[in-house]
Amino acid sequence: MEILKTTGLKKYYGSGAGLVRALDGISMSIEEGEFAAVVGTSGSGKSTLLHMLGGLDYPTEGKVFVDGKDIFALRETELTIFRRRNIGFIFQNYNLVPVLNVYENVVLPLELDGEKPDREFVREVMETLGIYERRTSMPNQLSGGQQQRVAIARALASKPAIVLADEPTGNLDSRNSKEVMGLLKVTGEQFGQTIVMITHNEALAQLCSRVIRIEDGRIWKDGENPAQNCGMGARRQNPVGKRTGETAARNVQGGIRHEK
Ligand SMILES: Nc1ncnc2c1ncn2[C@@H]1O[C@H](COP(=O)(O)OP(=O)(O)O)[C@@H](O)[C@H]1O
Ligand SMILES: [Mg+2]
Repeated sequence: MEILKTTGLKKYYGSGAGLVRALDGISMSIEEGEFAAVVGTSGSGKSTLLHMLGGLDYPTEGKVFVDGKDIFALRETELTIFRRRNIGFIFQNYNLVPVLNVYENVVLPLELDGEKPDREFVREVMETLGIYERRTSMPNQLSGGQQQRVAIARALASKPAIVLADEPTGNLDSRNSKEVMGLLKVTGEQFGQTIVMITHNEALAQLCSRVIRIEDGRIWKDGENPAQNCGMGARRQNPVGKRTGETAARNVQGGIRHEK
């Protein structure tokens, strides 16, 4: 099932000689359960694209559909609510609330939405990420890698339609980057979560099931990642494949529903 789609997405900044075509016609489609990397050099438009996908900023032209919903056709207040319920964000600098403990940070978006957290699910996510033991710690008592794992748990806790991550390992050393990336991938598979992750790190992109390459605000290459065959995108291509059957079984058990 298609969970995310853009059509002719453009974002221009400035005008005249100072016109910057940050996005210049991006049309793409992401299937439920895919773990897609968006790769490109600095200034290629990656963050701008992520902001549009998440409804954080309005495009100059074009549309974004999340779970079939034309998000920019919503009124601003409706978009805010839709975003909170359907889109999980992970940023480079974690964006945790310093005066809340780990558990409170994880369930904050749900509480802002007046929803009761699914405690069992939240616990499972936190255990998978290895932070359940630290649930009463404050963010400043945690390492960068641990803080990012809290941010991942927070993004997953509301069972969003999509998780958007902008350089999630950008502030981490290479060992922690690999670890956080591995956990993102494992939780994505375990909970059937669709993830779109920006990176300029080619090695990290190779862990994803699909790599979308952008330059000058345009896609120049997009495809299943041949180096990777355990993402859900790969399973979709090969639904009866032996190698992927086990992942499929796990996903049926742990599968996420987001009927909101
Ligand atoms: N708010 C803004 N105002 C003007 N130009 C911007 C703004 N945000 C981004 N840009 C420009 O748009 C282009 C793409 O930026 P960005 O999406 O941040 O790239 P990336 O994340 O790939 O490094 C760059 O040329 C950048 O300078
Ligand atoms: Mg960026």
